[in-house]
Amino acid sequence: MFAMFLVVACSEKQLVPGQQSGVNIIKMEVFKTPTCGCCNKWVDHLKNEGFAVITKDRVSLDAIKEGYNIDPHYQSCHTGVVDGYVFEGHIPARLIRQFLDDIPEGALGLAVPGMPIGSPGMEMGERFDSYDVLLLKSDGTSEVFSHVDGPE
Ligand code: CU
Ligand code: CU
Repeated sequence: MFAMFLVVACSEKQLVPGQQSGVNIIKMEVFKTPTCGCCNKWVDHLKNEGFAVITKDRVSLDAIKEGYNIDPHYQSCHTGVVDGYVFEGHIPARLIRQFLDDIPEGALGLAVPGMPIGSPGMEMGERFDSYDVLLLKSDGTSEVFSHVDGPE
């Protein structure tokens, strides 16, 4: 009797539209240095937003940044990779989803250069410095993908 109830309850749940099964799980590899605290906090932010993250520690990230053509002025403390696209720095999860939902032509990925205070993983109390999320293009140029005015 109890088992019957469970089966019914489970199958009913699967019929509810818009449940977790419909959400695309984004699988990301994150390259970071072993001692980076803000990198871990950014990874936590992504996990909270439903990303499946695998972290890979490297003593130096130079080879990674060079391999993915991330120019020094776009660089930050960590590099995320999804299907060959790069996500450099403390980018909000919702903007990564937005990018992957409709990938612009010639795009390399997104970047938040440096480490703006108040970006995901860089929270410092009430402090917040607004910042731009850049769209990196394969020709080495960039444009503003989104301007972020407040904490996520
Ligand atoms: Cu950082
Ligand atoms: Cu980092």
